[in-house]
Formats: sequence, structure tokens, C-alpha cells
Amino acid sequence: MKKKNLFVCLGNICRSPLAEGIFIKLLKNNNLTNEFEVDSAGTAAYHVGEKPDIRMINTAEKHGVYLNSRARQVVPIDFDYFNFIFAMDKMNYKNLKSLAEKYNKPFNNVFLLRSFDDTDGISDVPDPYYGSLEDFENVFTIVEHSCVQVLKFINEN
Ligand code: 4NP
Repeated sequence: MKKKNLFVCLGNICRSPLAEGIFIKLLKNNNLTNEFEVDSAGTAAYHVGEKPDIRMINTAEKHGVYLNSRARQVVPIDFDYFNFIFAMDKMNYKNLKSLAEKYNKPFNNVFLLRSFDDTDGISDVPDPYYGSLEDFENVFTIVEHSCVQVLKFINEN
């Protein structure tokens, strides 16, 4: 059975589409594409239907990662469908928790993305939306590093 990963941020136009794109590329590089299903979503509905933010698209492209998702909001059935749900920051995590409680859904498949990296395990992927291009670069570095750790974790468990 395919392992199903969902990456979640606030708007689903910056961080989680990037995580989706990076993870898909990692799978390709490791000949694992057929073993996974990968998606992303936002806790908010502000940008539903939109392509990723152009600053995120351009930053990703500089690193050979191509983003072609359309923003959607998290729906309750996501908690049943996905094996792993990765929140980009603690606010996303809290909002997911409230949603899971409201709809009586499982929550033991929800993790902070950075709990898999080798820093302090509780850091956020910072929201770059009101930031500079340097902030977008920083998000790329963090998310790429975390996604490598996530793939390693899933493959070893
Ligand atoms: P994301 O970034 O959660 O990484 O997609 C944001 C996108 C949009 C907004 C905030 C953060 N917004 O306030 O519209």
C-alpha cells in the first residue's frame, strides 16, 4: 500500500507546496515515486484554488524543484486518509488539533515537520509570506533538510 503524506501550512501557497515539491523530487531521486502519495493543504481558505506564491515558485526553481499544486483547505477526511500529516509550525499543528477534535478524527498521525530534523525538534518552519527573498531561501534550506529526515524516518519505520 502506498504511504500517504500530507504537508500542511496556513495558506498552502508557500511552505507546504514547497515541502510537497521537495518530497516528490526526493522520491524521484530515490526511485520511490510509486510507493508514496504526496499532497499539501492549508488550515486557512484565503488562497484556495491559487498556484503557489511566485516568490516560492522562483526560489524552488533555482534549486531544481518545480511546484505545480493548487491551494486547498484541509478537510476532516484528510485525518483518516493520510498516514502522515506534517504541520509546518506550531500554530498549524494547534489548528489541526482543534479540527481533529471537532470532527472526532485521529490525531496520532499528525507531526510537526521539524520534529524530524536534527536541531531542537520543536522549531517552526518560519512563515515567509511577509518576508524577503532571503526568508524564502531560508525556508527552502529548512524544508529540504527536514524532508530528507522525514523520508529517512518513514523508510526506517
Ligand atoms: P504559507 O504562507 O502558510 O506558507 O502558505 C502564507 C500564505 C498566505 C498568508 C499567510 C501565510 N496570508 O496571510 O494570506
